[in-house]
Amino acid sequence: MRLEFSTKVSLPDREKADCIAVAVFEGERLSASAAALDRASGGQIRALLRSRDLEGKPGTTRLLYRVPGVTAERVVLVGMGKEKQVGAKEYRDGVRAAVSAIRETGAAQACLYVTEVAVADRDGAWKARHLAVVADETLYRFDQMKSDKADARPLAQIALGVASRREMRPVTLGLDAGRAVASGVALARDLGNLPGNICTPEYLAEKALQLGKQFRLAVEVLERADMKRLGMGSLLSVAKGSRQPPKFIVLRYGGAGKGARPIVLVGKGITFDSGGISLKPGAEMDEMKFDMCGAASVLGTLRAAAEMKLKLNLVGLIPATENMPGGAASKPGDIVKSMSGQTIEILNTDAEGRLILCDALTYAGRFEPQLVIDVATLTGACVIALGHVCSGLFANRDALARELLAAGEDAWDRAWQLPLWPDYREQLKSNFADLANIGGRPAGSVTAACFLSSFSGKYPWAHLDIAGTAWKSGKEKGATGRPVPLLASFLMRRAKR
Ligand code: BES
Ligand code: MN
Ligand code: ZN
Repeated sequence: MRLEFSTKVSLPDREKADCIAVAVFEGERLSASAAALDRASGGQIRALLRSRDLEGKPGTTRLLYRVPGVTAERVVLVGMGKEKQVGAKEYRDGVRAAVSAIRETGAAQACLYVTEVAVADRDGAWKARHLAVVADETLYRFDQMKSDKADARPLAQIALGVASRREMRPVTLGLDAGRAVASGVALARDLGNLPGNICTPEYLAEKALQLGKQFRLAVEVLERADMKRLGMGSLLSVAKGSRQPPKFIVLRYGGAGKGARPIVLVGKGITFDSGGISLKPGAEMDEMKFDMCGAASVLGTLRAAAEMKLKLNLVGLIPATENMPGGAASKPGDIVKSMSGQTIEILNTDAEGRLILCDALTYAGRFEPQLVIDVATLTGACVIALGHVCSGLFANRDALARELLAAGEDAWDRAWQLPLWPDYREQLKSNFADLANIGGRPAGSVTAACFLSSFSGKYPWAHLDIAGTAWKSGKEKGATGRPVPLLASFLMRRAKR
């Protein structure tokens, strides 16, 4: 069931929704809507703040029932921090907390008065878009594989209450974008969360075909024989050890004229990464079902772009395969020939992501792209370097890197640039082939990116290493849908939306 969003001009004290939410700030400061409730109730809200039951810290909430003078049965007060210092993080934490608090009640519909809060350097459309993305993310549950769909809370409709007709337009436009991004994120999360025995290369291809039907994308699925004909020896060397046939998925979205050169998105689609003959240790190996999150984010981003009808031409490329050990699997020391003609010595079969991406990057050249971005859960070293806060970003053009960093800030799905200097290339030298597929322990994410850069042709190219951001481990284990928000922002800005 999808959450529905709408906008309306509404007075908080007269609003008939099951639940309303208004913002309060540190130092007993009230937002305009909280002040309206305070007046209607004869000072109830201020009294509560004075008693210090709610201090206004970002992400804290209080739920009140049947406030005198207020029509809605439930009122959620949500703290957003210091009134003059509400940034993207405080705003998003506030929205998340408000939506969680509402969800815990029996309310089926709610009206939130939060777009009136001033957020540094962000406008009404931004606030509405982020509200939709954060609310949808908060209510997301993955229970496809559970017999009991335990979570039957009724919250299904969220309205954004604004004070005047003038505010309707930007908020409505922001919500439209937010809905599209949220559905892209949800798609990426669903695909990521599905287990490897269900989400196989074939399953990804089927999902791509479905998406194509739904959003008028041209979808083509290349089979092993096609890949052989194309000379994708590197990609095929990874697929050799698996019983699951590999698929190379090509999706095309034409939102601009025929002449416009496309933006190509490439997503790593390893549906399970056992490491191959260089077998991974057993602990947390289940999490390697998430090794197709790059592919999932490409599908999610294409979905969002198509839903927004962005005036761009886009191509999605997904090399999809398992990485398994077995009698037919590639062995350390094997040498393979990539589609580019370069030979690669496979010193570690667990460095397989780059082996499938390199052929996809060569294939990308066929589309005469204006630029190419690949997205991959590529290196554990990226998690060591940057943790789970931001994705690693590499680019062969600085302007493209800056554009992606800015898109990440806008989407609050941030990235951090790491170097691609030729100095690191030394580490990829092989005694037997044109290059080796690993560069030793130092700067593992950089040498992986350097490897890819040998295949990125002449076009502007960027690489996002999402190993630390694509999913969460531990109690909250699950796919995050990142970097769909970043990529969607990037494309929206390119399409001047
Ligand atoms: N899919 C992994 C990267 C990964 C590992 C992401 C752990 C998130 C958490 C990738 O295919 C891989 O195994 N990389 C190796 C490369 C090494 C053999 C050079 C790694 O990071 O250990
Ligand atoms: Mn691996
Ligand atoms: Zn992998």
